[in-house]
Amino acid sequence: MMKNHDCVTFLQWALPQLHLRWRGMRKVRGQVCKRIQRRLRELTLPNISAYQVYLTNHPEEWAVLDEFCRITISRFYRDRAVFNYLQQVILPDLAQQSRVQNNSTLRCWSAGCASGEEAYTLQILWQLALSPQFPDLSFQVIATDINAHLLERAQVGCYEFSSIKELPTNWITQAFDQRDEQYWVKSQFRAGLNFYQQDIRSQMSEGLFHLILCRNFVFTYFDFDRQREMVNRFAQNLWPGGVLLIGKHETLPSESPQFEPIQGKLGIYGRHTLTV
Ligand SMILES: C[S@@+](CC[C@H](N)C(=O)[O-])C[C@H]1O[C@@H](n2cnc3c(N)ncnc32)[C@H](O)[C@@H]1O
Repeated sequence: MMKNHDCVTFLQWALPQLHLRWRGMRKVRGQVCKRIQRRLRELTLPNISAYQVYLTNHPEEWAVLDEFCRITISRFYRDRAVFNYLQQVILPDLAQQSRVQNNSTLRCWSAGCASGEEAYTLQILWQLALSPQFPDLSFQVIATDINAHLLERAQVGCYEFSSIKELPTNWITQAFDQRDEQYWVKSQFRAGLNFYQQDIRSQMSEGLFHLILCRNFVFTYFDFDRQREMVNRFAQNLWPGGVLLIGKHETLPSESPQFEPIQGKLGIYGRHTLTV
């Protein structure tokens, strides 16, 4: 069995080479170390030092390690205060902005969407709480992730109660069909929602968005150079005045002149109207 200390030393050596941050990975390292341990068994390697040598001699193995370092936890309505603020302030403002821009569609992008929990939450929130105020506006959500297996689950749209339990109870009743112990998203909440497989390091979603959600992912796990690169690219993908939502416990890299905090504590940033 690999010792925690050995796995930590290994990760501190390997992560920077994948442009990932040890600080982000520290708390969830148990999961990553378990995956590496399984890989050692598969490769019949005696210890982690042997894996280090293996990586050096088999450069293609870095892609396997990269996959082990992806954390996939998510749930509906994750961080209630954030979704409340989206409902009360951000989405109504963005909807008004779209009207002023003569845009008939409010476009959102859930980047790193896991099994669709965040994207469906947006759909439910919009349809049940906001669309009656904006009947002239259609709502579109593009949801992307690198992990094909998670995206398949997202397409199916079937969840355990533990995933949806933070949603307001009346929304659960209105948005899901319950069969046995499973909760299926009703078809009306799938309209306007599209899932795509995409590696955000090399691909971005097309067109301009009013709201981009990139939570508990880039600004936790990616190194600062890559974070800065992503900030630039998100700025280019947002309408001026658009909003970038990052995780509640994340911050943008210090030099991000394209954005100013709207509610920094909730991870909500506005794209400056003048900067490019
Ligand atoms: C911890 S989950 C966060 C899910 C959701 N945003 C939330 O906050 O609940 C991070 C997601 O990012 C995805 N991911 C990791 N690396 C990625 C990459 N390079 N491109 C796209 N998605 C990636 C993972 O597959 C995972 O589903």
